[in-house]
Amino acid sequence: MSTPETFYDQVGGEATFRAIVARFYEEVAKDELLRPLYPEEDLSGAEQRLRLFLMQYWGGPQTYSEQRGHPRLRMRHAPFKIGLAERDAWLRCMRIALDEVELTRQQRDRLWQYFEMAAHSMVNSWF
Ligand code: HEM
Repeated sequence: MSTPETFYDQVGGEATFRAIVARFYEEVAKDELLRPLYPEEDLSGAEQRLRLFLMQYWGGPQTYSEQRGHPRLRMRHAPFKIGLAERDAWLRCMRIALDEVELTRQQRDRLWQYFEMAAHSMVNSWF
């Protein structure tokens, strides 16, 4: 009996998430609003955490939770001031990254819908 293919497999597995997240952080590195929020000088740790989280979320290996425990993303973002401008900047970087990987229209839409919802749910500053 074969296991059903996950969305992670359908979009091309780790290589696809690696490409999206690497491109995303190239943009973050240049963004005047976002870059100062990241505590580490080297963004490679943050890049790895986001990549492993997304791989796990979409049905791939559960390495994120093995290394970091339960995601609790809202709680993990609480130390950073995330307003509407930060949310929009984050989404702008992600839009560029998503547009550059090879995906079907439906796959891209599904990922984008999720990112819009997730980014909005991370907003913790309304003033
Ligand atoms: C971590 C900013 C949205 C997933 C972080 C960090 C910052 C940050 C500053 C700490 C970097 C580090 O780990 O060294 C933001 C901002 C967002 C946003 C400004 C705008 C809305 C999101 C969204 C997701 C996400 C939508 C998921 C889809 C993560 C993950 C981590 C992280 C998985 C690492 C958590 C950990 O294991 O410690 N984010 N983030 N973030 N972010 Fe975001």
